[in-house]
Amino acid sequence: MSILTPEWTALLYLVSAVCFILALKGLSSPRHARRGNLIGSAGALLAVVTVFLSVKLENIPLILAAIAVGSAIAVPIARRVQMTQMPQLVGGFNGVGGGAAALVAVLELGHTDDPWVRIAIVFTMLIGAISFSGSAITVLKLQELMTTRPVLFPGLRWIMSIAVLASVAAAVLVVVTGSWIWAVALLILGLGVGVLLVLPVGGADVPIVISLLNAFTGIAVAASGIVLENVLLVVAGTLVGASGTILTMAMAKAMGRGVTGILFGAFKGGSTAGSTELSDRPVRSSSAEDVAVQLGYAQNVVIVPGYGLAVAQGQHTIAELATALEDRGVHVVFGIHPVAGRMPGHMNVLLAEANVPYESLKELGEVNPEFKSTDVVLVVGANDVVNPAAKSTPGSPIYGMPILEVGDANQIVFLKRSMRPGFAGIENELLYDPKTELLFGDAKDSLSQVLAAVKAL
Ligand code: TAP
Repeated sequence: MSILTPEWTALLYLVSAVCFILALKGLSSPRHARRGNLIGSAGALLAVVTVFLSVKLENIPLILAAIAVGSAIAVPIARRVQMTQMPQLVGGFNGVGGGAAALVAVLELGHTDDPWVRIAIVFTMLIGAISFSGSAITVLKLQELMTTRPVLFPGLRWIMSIAVLASVAAAVLVVVTGSWIWAVALLILGLGVGVLLVLPVGGADVPIVISLLNAFTGIAVAASGIVLENVLLVVAGTLVGASGTILTMAMAKAMGRGVTGILFGAFKGGSTAGSTELSDRPVRSSSAEDVAVQLGYAQNVVIVPGYGLAVAQGQHTIAELATALEDRGVHVVFGIHPVAGRMPGHMNVLLAEANVPYESLKELGEVNPEFKSTDVVLVVGANDVVNPAAKSTPGSPIYGMPILEVGDANQIVFLKRSMRPGFAGIENELLYDPKTELLFGDAKDSLSQVLAAVKAL
């Protein structure tokens, strides 16, 4: 029996929708992100409770059991996940959302003869299935359970074209016949298209694809709202679809790519090349004391943080080092690349955690002209975002991505553990540059040693 009248249901859905919009607003700045997240969660909880109170549900024990199993799996994963593994988590949860929308749509097939509803059903199934399998591949790539490089094989382009055409044909057949067999075929084809879509995407572009698949899931959920005649699903799905699309465009722009270039660039042989072989040329390794002298007696220092800083959790030590240098009269700024780390805004969040003032953070366009007058650049756990191959090597997976032009500075110091490459898996010529020195070790340990040496100057 439904407890709520349709008017109350509509009102509560409206409140939930407003919560989702406020959540997005809150998430647009690290300062309000936590609050935004809580508001969004409250909106989702209200929406679920409203469904229970307004719809005559069957199988309530099964629904509660599914919620319990889902929560038992998701809560520990979300609590334990490292900050650096956040994109995988988002990718995984996103895929599950797309898969759920596809399954709900399949089940609704038996409840309607309306061709318009069937069109919404096949749309949800196809996009949801693509999102599910595509997200699964991105999780495997980001977790490095499979190669992060583009996977290409002969005939891939043809197989992809045939799979897309077959999906469209199966979708038409489901709309016309309402047949389960064609529905299952459509789901399988959708899963195949998702895999084929993401396999050729190269390492550094994977995060953008996660965001794109996130938009796909939003659209699938919005379409499932039409199938289920649930306005809130339409609103929430559209919000996810729109925000995912905006984020995809912004990230693609930051990487100097078009979205089609990211998805289909490898088909043209665009992003498969690049050296995986690492050379054993000599490099200049340095000591903490030498680095401290260079930094302590410089006038202008730019610190470039990257993924390794997040791994080492060296944000507090780097903030202390910046303060110690400023106390000596050195001008210190942080150069922030839009895709440094492993998630959008990763470095901003990391440095905000250590109370590094916003004014010290300079974005790519702002800091690049400053490198020419910079005495020392301290590159801490960053690699791809300063790799000149993005400008000089047309076949490289990062070719075309704007980089922080640290090569323009007088001295460059890299803090890293080994000669291993960054996420894109390609060598960085800058490591062999005569004005580059390397301080090997975990970033936090090296920073602590340099800090102690600066204080002792
Ligand atoms: P990367 O190119 O991945 O380089 C990270 C560097 O950190 C490596 O050279 C690694 O060398 C070093 N490192 C790792 N752990 C360390 C530790 N504990 N101490 C010291 N150094 C350590 O990082 P980046 O320059 O920040 O570039 C980001 C890359 O990730 C780009 O390719 C980007 O496209 C991709 N990506 C970005 C995102 C977003 S949205 N930000 C999401 C996913 C992927 P050693 O192993 O030798 O120490």
